[in-house]
Amino acid sequence: MKNVAVLGTGYVGLVSGTCFAEIGNTVYCVDIDKEKIDILNSGKLPIYEPGLDALVKKNVDAGRLFFTTDFDDAVKKSDIIFICVGTPPRENGEADLSYVENAARRIAEVSTTPKIVVEKSTVPVETGARIRQVLEQYNPHNVKFSVVSNPEFLREGTAVEDFLKPDRVVIGTDDLEARRQLQELYAPLNCKILFTDIKSSEIIKHASNSFLATKISFINAVANICEKTGADIEMVAEGMGLDRRIGRNFLNAGLGYGGFCFPKDVDAFINISRKIGYDFRLLQEVQNINRERREMFVEKVGEALWILKGKKIGVLGLAFKPNTDDMRFAPSETIINYLQKQGARVRAFDPAAMARAKKVLNGIEYCDSAMEVVKDAEALLILTEWDEFKGLDLDKVKSEMKNPLIIDGRNLFDPVQMKEKGFRYVCLGRNCN
Ligand code: UDX
Repeated sequence: MKNVAVLGTGYVGLVSGTCFAEIGNTVYCVDIDKEKIDILNSGKLPIYEPGLDALVKKNVDAGRLFFTTDFDDAVKKSDIIFICVGTPPRENGEADLSYVENAARRIAEVSTTPKIVVEKSTVPVETGARIRQVLEQYNPHNVKFSVVSNPEFLREGTAVEDFLKPDRVVIGTDDLEARRQLQELYAPLNCKILFTDIKSSEIIKHASNSFLATKISFINAVANICEKTGADIEMVAEGMGLDRRIGRNFLNAGLGYGGFCFPKDVDAFINISRKIGYDFRLLQEVQNINRERREMFVEKVGEALWILKGKKIGVLGLAFKPNTDDMRFAPSETIINYLQKQGARVRAFDPAAMARAKKVLNGIEYCDSAMEVVKDAEALLILTEWDEFKGLDLDKVKSEMKNPLIIDGRNLFDPVQMKEKGFRYVCLGRNCN
C-alpha cells in the first residue's frame, strides 16, 4: 500500500483520490481552495457524482482519505504525486498550463525524498518533458524525480465505475522503478495496463477523446442525411453498431457533445497539431458539425412555433448529459439564450443541475418538477436524456400542455407512438410527421 498525494480536487482529482483510497492506499487530496476542502471535511461533496459520496465517507472513516490545503505536508508524506489541477482553455483554444507548472515547481521545492510525479490532467504532448525540466530546475534538495503520464478516461456520471473497472490504464514513462510502482498501485483493478513512453501516453488521451467526438459528429452528419431522405437515424445507428468494428457506443445523434472535456480537448488537439505544422482539418469539421447541431435545433423550434416572442416554452434537462449536475458547454445554455433573445418565456427543470444552472442562466423560471414545466407550455423541449423524462406519463403531459408540441433534442420517444398519443413530435434524424 502506498502514500499518494492528489493535487487538485476537481472531478478527476476527487474521483481518482477517493478510488486510490478505496483500493487500499493512504491518500492526501490537496486543493488551494479552502472552501472546497472545508466542504469535503464537513462530509459533503462539491460536485454531484453518483456513488462518490458513499465512497468518500467510507474511506475517510477508514482513515485512508484526507482533504487538506497543506500542499507541502501532503507532498512530503507521499511517494507518488498525481497532478490533477485544472488546465482551462485560453482564448486561443490552447490549454493554460500555469497551474501544472506551479504544482511541479512547488513539488520540487519541498521534496526531500524521491518522488514519482504523475500528470493526470489532460495536457498537450511534451508537457511531461516540461514537468521534468521544472522539477530539475527548482530542486534545492537534489531529489530524484520520475515523471509519468497517466491520463484519465473518466466520464462524469459513471466516473467511479470507470475508475474501478477501466477498459485500460495507460502508463507512460521511461523510468523502470516508476513503472513498477504504478503497476503495483493499479494491480488491485485487475485490468489491462498499457506501458508506453510519455509522449505516446499524452497523445492517447487526445486522440481518444477526439476520436469519440468524431464518432458523435459523424452520426450527427448522418442524421442530417436521414432527415432529408426520410430514413431513421436510430435504425441506422443500430445497423452500423452491430458491426463490431464500429460498435453502437457514441452513435447517439442529438444536440452534439458538450461538457468540459470534448469541446476543450478537440480544440486543444487542433492547436497542438497546428503548432507542429499539421492542419487537422478533420477535427475542425467535427467541431463545426457539433456547433451546427444547436443552431439546427433552434431553427426547428422557430419552424414549429413561428413567433417565439411571448411563447411559454418548457425545457426538460439543463445538464450537458444525464447523471451529472455539470453545465459546462451544455447545449441548454446556447439554446435557452437564443430563445430568450427571441422573447420566449422559458421555464425549466433538471433533476440535478438546477443550482449550477442558476449561476449561468438568468431570467428563466426554475420549476420543482418536470410536470410543473409541462403545465400550460406551448412547446416542450427535451435537452438532456434523463431516465426520469423517459418515464413521464405522456397522457398527463398532453392534458397539461397548452399545445401538445414536443421538440426532442435527444430522440427519447418513438415518433409513431407520439403521433398516436396526439402529440406534434419533432425529433432529430427521424421521420416525425
Ligand atoms: C468524456 C470522455 O468520455 C472521458 O473518457 C474523458 O475522460 C472526459 O470526457 P464526459 O465529458 O464525462 O467524458 O462525457 P461522455 O459521456 O463521454 O459524453 C460527452 C458528450 O458527448 C456529452 O455531451 C454527451 O451528451 C455527448 N454524446 C455522447 C453524444 O452526443 N452522443 C453519444 O453517442 C455519446
